[in-house]
Amino acid sequence: MTDQGFPVDEIDTSRPHPARMYDYYLGGRDNYEVDREAAQRVIDLIPDIVPGARGNREFLHRAVRFLADSGIEQFIDIGTGIPTSPNTHEIARSVAPDSRVAYVDNDPIVATHAGARLTGTGNTGFFLGDIRRPRTILDHPTIGKLIDFDRPVALMLVAVLHFITDEEDPAGLVAELRDALPAGSYLVLSHGTADFHQAGMPEVFKIYEKATATLNLRPRTEILGFFDGFELLDPGLVQVPLWRPGKVPTPEEVSRVGFYGAVARKL
Ligand SMILES: C[S@@+](CC[C@H](N)C(=O)[O-])C[C@H]1O[C@@H](n2cnc3c(N)ncnc32)[C@H](O)[C@@H]1O
Repeated sequence: MTDQGFPVDEIDTSRPHPARMYDYYLGGRDNYEVDREAAQRVIDLIPDIVPGARGNREFLHRAVRFLADSGIEQFIDIGTGIPTSPNTHEIARSVAPDSRVAYVDNDPIVATHAGARLTGTGNTGFFLGDIRRPRTILDHPTIGKLIDFDRPVALMLVAVLHFITDEEDPAGLVAELRDALPAGSYLVLSHGTADFHQAGMPEVFKIYEKATATLNLRPRTEILGFFDGFELLDPGLVQVPLWRPGKVPTPEEVSRVGFYGAVARKL
C-alpha cells in the first residue's frame, strides 16, 4: 500500500505507461526499464519530443501563474502526471497561499507518488479517476471537499486528451466537465499534434499501441473544437512556446514543439 492507500501491486511494469514515458522525456527518474525502452525509441524517431514535453510543462507553469494572478484559487488538474516540481499547487500557492488543487489521474503510479509530493497539506487532494467518466470525477468526495462550484474554477486538461480516442468522444467529455463549471471559470488545455512532425509518426503510434493508452494526435482544427462554450484568451490556440512566453522563443525553438495549448474562459 502507498500512503494514499493505493495497492502497489496494481502497478503494471510489463507494459510502458504514458505517464512514466513522459517522466522520462522530462528527465525524471520515476520510470521502469520497459518505459525507458519505449520512450527512448520515440526519442530516436522524433527527437523533438524532449523539447516538446518541456515546452508543454512550461506552458502549464505560465498558465497556472496567469490564472492565479487573475484571482483563480481553485484548480481541478486531470491527467496530473507523475509529480514534477513545480506542480500546479506550488505555482498557484506562490501567488495565493490558500489555493486549492484537486489532482486526478487514472494511473496508479501517479498515485504512489501523489501522497508525498502532491497532497502534503489540507488544501490539495489526489484521487484515481478517469476523464472518460466525468461524473465520477465531479461527484468524488475530494472534489466535494476542495472545490466550490459557486466560484470560478480552473479546469486543467494538459496533455491528456490525446490519450482519448475519437470513439470515446473527447469533445463530449470536455463539454460534460464544462457544464459543471460556473461562468467565469477557465479551461487550460494542451494537446499533442502531428502537424509539424509527420516522419516517424506511424512507428510512434505503434509504440503507444503497446502501452496502456494509445496516442491520438490531432490537427489544430480538431483541438480547437474542444473549446466550444469557452472564449479563447489571447493569443488563442498556439504551439505552447508561443503562449504568453516570458522570453520570445526563436523560430527553431517553436518549430520543434508538437503541442498546441490555450487558456479559455467559460462564457
Ligand atoms: C503526458 S502526461 C501529462 C502530465 C501533466 N498534465 C503535464 O502536462 O505535464 C498525461 C497524463 O494523463 C494521464 N491519463 C491518461 N489517460 C487518462 C484518463 N483516461 N484519465 C485520467 N488521466 C489519464 C496519464 O496517466 C498521464 O499521467
